[in-house]
Amino acid sequence: MSSETYTTALAQTAAEFDAALVGLLANQDNDVPRIWDAMRYAALAGGKRLRPFLVLISSDVCGGSRASALRVAAAVEMMHTYSLVHDDLPAMDDDELRRGLPTLHRQFDEATAILAGDALLTLAFEVLADPATHADGQIRAELVLGLARAGGARGMAGGQMLDLEAENRAVANANEVIRLESMKTGALFAWSCEAGAVVAGAGQAERAKLRAFGAEFGMAFQITDDILDETGDASEVGKAVGKDSERGKATLVSLRGLKGARDAALEHAQRAVENLDFFGEKADLLRAAATQLIDRRV
Ligand code: IPE
Ligand code: IPE
Ligand code: MG
Ligand code: MG
Ligand code: MG
Repeated sequence: MSSETYTTALAQTAAEFDAALVGLLANQDNDVPRIWDAMRYAALAGGKRLRPFLVLISSDVCGGSRASALRVAAAVEMMHTYSLVHDDLPAMDDDELRRGLPTLHRQFDEATAILAGDALLTLAFEVLADPATHADGQIRAELVLGLARAGGARGMAGGQMLDLEAENRAVANANEVIRLESMKTGALFAWSCEAGAVVAGAGQAERAKLRAFGAEFGMAFQITDDILDETGDASEVGKAVGKDSERGKATLVSLRGLKGARDAALEHAQRAVENLDFFGEKADLLRAAATQLIDRRV
C-alpha cells in the first residue's frame, strides 16, 4: 500500500472520528461550563488520532459496526488525552506546549487540568458502559475491563510511575526501559487493537493477534517518540523537544543512542506486522501504519 493511501485513510478516519468526539463532548446540560471547556480544549485540539484509527481499522478487519467502534475509539482517545494532560503537569514532565497549543494547565490552571483529566478518564468508562456502545452487556463489560487494565497501575499509570522513578537514576538495562514503555504506551495501543476486535464480537484468536500487533506497534511508537524528542522539530511535533535528556528520562535513545533506538523500533514494527498474516490483505492499512511509523516526523 502506498504511503499516500495510508495517509489519506488516516486523515479521513480522523475527520469521521472528530465529528463523533465533538458529539460526546457536548455539554448537554450546559452545566459547569469550565470543566467541559477544558475537556474540549484538550481533546479537540488535534492530535494524530492514531489510537482511534487502530480501534476503527481493527474493528473493520473483524467486520464490526462503525457506530459502535467510533464510541470505543472515543473512549480510548479520552483516556489517552487525560494521560497527556496529566503528563504535562508541572509535577510530571512540566510542559508548556501540546498539540501546538499551550498545555491545559497553562491555558486554564493546574486544578482545572487535574479535574478535566479526571473527567475525561471517567467519561471514557461512561461511554463504554452506555448501551449505545453495544447492545450486549457482556461485550460492554469486556470493554470496560480492558480499558481499566490498560490505563491503570498494571498499564499506563504504572508505566508513568516507572518513567518518573527512572528520571536521573542509572537505568540498568534495556529490559527496564522496554517494560516501562510497554506499560506507559504499549498497553493502550494493545488495547486499542484488541478493543476493535472485542466490539466487533470477534473470537479469541483474532483478539490475541490484534492485541499482539498493538503491543509491538505501541513499543515502536514510543521509541520513535523518544527519537523525535532528540531529532524532531517542535513546530512539527507540536510539543517541546529535547526535554527527555534534560530531565534525565530513561529511554532507548539514552541507553543505545539514536541508531540503536531506530533499530529497536524497526524490530518492534516488524514483529507487529508478523501478527497480521492471519487476516490477509484485509489488514493492509494496519501493515501500512506499522511500516510508516519508523520514519514519522510527527
Ligand atoms: C504522545 O502520543 C504520547 C506518547 C505515548 C508518546 P501521541 O503522539 O499519539 O499524541 P497525539 O495524540 O498525536 O497528540
Ligand atoms: C507519555 O510519554 C506517555 C503517556 C502515557 C502520556 P512522553 O512523556 O514521552 O509523551 P510526550 O512526549 O510528552 O508526548
Ligand atoms: Mg512523560
Ligand atoms: Mg511528556
Ligand atoms: Mg516523549
